[in-house]
Order: sequence, then C-alpha cells, then structure tokens
Amino acid sequence: MIRSVIKGVGAYLPEKVLTNEDISKFVDTSDEWIFGRTGIKQRHIAADDQLTSDLAYHASMEAIKDAGIAASEIDLIILATSTPDQVFPSTAVKLQDKLRIKSGAAFDIHAVCSGFIYALSTADNFIRSGNYKKILVVGSETYSRILDWNDRSTCVLFGDAAGAFILESVYTEDNLLDVGIYDSIIRSDGEYREKLFCDGGPSMSGNQEHYINMDGKEVYKHAVEKQTSIVEELLEKTEIKIDDIDWFVPHQANLRILDATAKKLKLDKNKIIITVEKHANTSSASIPLAMTSAIKSGKIMRGDIVLLEAFGAGFTWGAVLLKY
Ligand code: UT7
Repeated sequence: MIRSVIKGVGAYLPEKVLTNEDISKFVDTSDEWIFGRTGIKQRHIAADDQLTSDLAYHASMEAIKDAGIAASEIDLIILATSTPDQVFPSTAVKLQDKLRIKSGAAFDIHAVCSGFIYALSTADNFIRSGNYKKILVVGSETYSRILDWNDRSTCVLFGDAAGAFILESVYTEDNLLDVGIYDSIIRSDGEYREKLFCDGGPSMSGNQEHYINMDGKEVYKHAVEKQTSIVEELLEKTEIKIDDIDWFVPHQANLRILDATAKKLKLDKNKIIITVEKHANTSSASIPLAMTSAIKSGKIMRGDIVLLEAFGAGFTWGAVLLKY
C-alpha cells in the first residue's frame, strides 16, 4: 500500500514585525484588547517588493533542505493561497520557476484558511494514486495587502507568512496506521460565504475595494462547532482515540477558538501547538508554520501522532491525521 510521509518541513516569516502597540498608534485599539480577545501579540509584514511567491520560495527551500532532496526531484507543487501574486498564472507556477523545476506540474488551491489542509489532502490522494512520488505542498499569504488598515475589527487579526511540507510516497505492507498520513476529511458550505469574504474579484464587479469583511461572532461560533465535529468524524473513521494523539496542530487564528475547540474535544491543553501570539492569523500558512516551529523546538518528534485541522472562509474546514 502507498502512503504519504512528511519528509521535510519549512517556514518563512518576513522580517518586518508589527506589534499590537504599533497598530494602536494608527487605529483605536490596544494590546490589552487584541491579546485578550485573540492571544495575538504581533504579526510579520512582507516588504513592499515581496510577493506571496517570494515567501513561498523561502519556506519551500527550507523544506527541500530539511527533506535532503534536490528540487528537481519534485514532481508536483500544490500551493494554497487566497492572496496570489496575480489573477493568473498561478502562484504555484511562479514558485516552480523560482525553484528552477522544469518537469512535473504545479497548481494553486483556494480554500482560504483551510487551504493547507485542502492542499495536503489533495497531495495525499495524488500520492495514493501512484502517479506522483514527491510533492511540495505550500501555504503562502500576504494578507497585509488585503486588509483595511483603518478597520480595527479585522486589521489586528492577520499577518504574512509561508510554510511548506515535502510529501514523499512510501510503500508499506505493514499495518494501515503504521506510517505517514492516515486519512483526511475536507468539507465546505457556501451558504456562509458572506460571513467572511474579500471583495474585488475580477468577475463580480469593477469594485476597486478589496478588503476583508467579517462577521466575527458567526465565524467564531462555526469555527468551534465545525472543527470539533470534523475531528470527531476523522477519529471515528480512523479508529483513533483522542488520547492517542500526541500533538494537535490547529489553524492558528485565535487563541480563544483553539481553547474552545480543545475543550469541546476534551483534548489535553498541553498537547496543543500554539504560535498565534507571534504571527497572528496567517491563513493557509499557519499550519505548516506551527508544525515547523514545533518540530524545530523538539516538541513534535518522529513517530508522534499529529492531528491538523482548520476552518476558514467559505465556510471551508478540514482535518488530517498523520504519523510524523
Ligand atoms: O480563520 C477564521 C478567521 N476569523 C477569526 O478568527 C475571527 C473569529 N472571531 C473572533 O475571534 C472574534 O469575533 C473577534 C476577536 C474578531 C472579536 O471579538 P468579539 O468578542 O466578537 O468582539 P465584537 O466584534 O463583538 O466587538 C466587541 C467590541 C465592539 O465595541 P462596542 O460596539 O461593544 O462598543 C467593537 O467595536 O469591541 C470593539 N472592537 C475593538 N476594540 C478595540 C472590535 N475590534 C476592536 C479592536 N480594538 N481591534
């Protein structure tokens, strides 16, 4: 049987840091409010000449190095983003060119904050099909470009970053749950698309505005409910018990959402990887970013069972269960 194993991980945060205190100098907010409601202390902001593909390149290079492979061995790139460099071509093909890869294929996935889970699930299925051997899966975002910096209800919540995994195909005759990605589930419900959106699409209108709009309370409520239920569904499907999970790496949107979801799942708080304080919500980049940081700090080790899950605009949500 063919399974997908995480061979390498990487992450990138742009140099410029914007703290809560910095933001409170140009909008009516405070560190106390932001940290108290979200657990966020600071976010990183891409330099004026840095695009989503540039952030993706740095994270990918780190993942390639960590995997100990040559970029040319990669036969597929799947890049999750909701802040692409341009309408077309895809950011994935720009990344492919930056990495000087001349073979295989590259494409983008657009599922907002659930983007990395969608990309990982897609990559896993491509590997299981037997058609691809080494896939670069990336989440990369420059949300600073789509924030209304006068809107305190949204501008304090997001930041720029990228994260990447190298997935490799391995053949195992052992137990179904012995190695790599066990299983994944992705879901969406477009009925809620107006609860969290960014306008300014090329087809919809000539609207020059392209800012994030959000009904925060509704998003919060659905995030907790849907993340809890999808994790329960995935555990049932894989016959894994919540106590068997070594680490929980959720989408890093907001500390209160993480706490509420973990509480509903009766998950030990000490098993949750939390990095949102340092970089705010980086959408599709947040899961590989948190995972890379937890591996580098020695928390997540080879053989650990890890649960990844996310929720985002659409609404979209999903979860992946794996052995690192
Ligand atoms: O991947 C999904 C991404 N989305 C999320 O993670 C967001 C989920 N939602 C949330 O986490 C919460 O809804 C927020 C943190 C966004 C907001 O918390 P809340 O408890 O729902 O606050 P609220 O929107 O009800 O606002 C409460 C008050 C309002 O003032 P009044 O009307 O009560 O006087 C807001 O104007 O807080 C005010 N407010 C702020 N005050 C200081 C809103 N934003 C700010 C701010 N600083 N940045």
